[in-house]
Amino acid sequence: MVTASTAAAPVLEGASGARAAATPAAAVDPRKPVDIALNVNGRDHQLAFDVRTSLLDLLRERLGLTGAKKGCDHGQCGACTVLLDGRRVLACLTPAVAAQGREITTIESLANDGALHPMQQAFIDHDAFQCGYCTPGQILSAIACVSEGHANSDADIREYMSGNLCRCAAYPNIVDAVKQARSAMKAASTD
Ligand code: FES
Ligand code: FES
Repeated sequence: MVTASTAAAPVLEGASGARAAATPAAAVDPRKPVDIALNVNGRDHQLAFDVRTSLLDLLRERLGLTGAKKGCDHGQCGACTVLLDGRRVLACLTPAVAAQGREITTIESLANDGALHPMQQAFIDHDAFQCGYCTPGQILSAIACVSEGHANSDADIREYMSGNLCRCAAYPNIVDAVKQARSAMKAASTD
């Protein structure tokens, strides 16, 4: 009679045979730094770091770019939003190694020779912040929202900005700011 144990035996033997033939892989210490090249705000960096490092920690603690904020560190508030190849990502949930070979954009690079990005100017014009903690993430998310074509109505803006929380509840002002910047960004792209 074939039982569960006898039926399983050939499989187990095969597996152990294969294991015996293979050379055991050396244990990798995840704390051992790895060398990685990253492009941040147009500048190349060669860095050695623990592969478990989040992009947020790398930006803030290794590169001194503290514009991206650590709100929750759990992907729930959007305060850490940065752009990777123009697409918004949560830096607290993105391993820094995943940004290799891609263009990382943080709030620090938006102003051009002292001239604010239209989205930065619109946030000021519409008083779209109070404490400002969420603002760098809001601005980068808003730029991507416009680029994605998701800023065509108030409802769209609210929906596609819903991953960015504001404890100061500046939401109506943020919507107004996005609409102003949307027009300015469109005008700039057709110049
Ligand atoms: Fe990344 Fe809150 S800190 S989502
Ligand atoms: Fe204070 Fe948004 S301005 S959390």
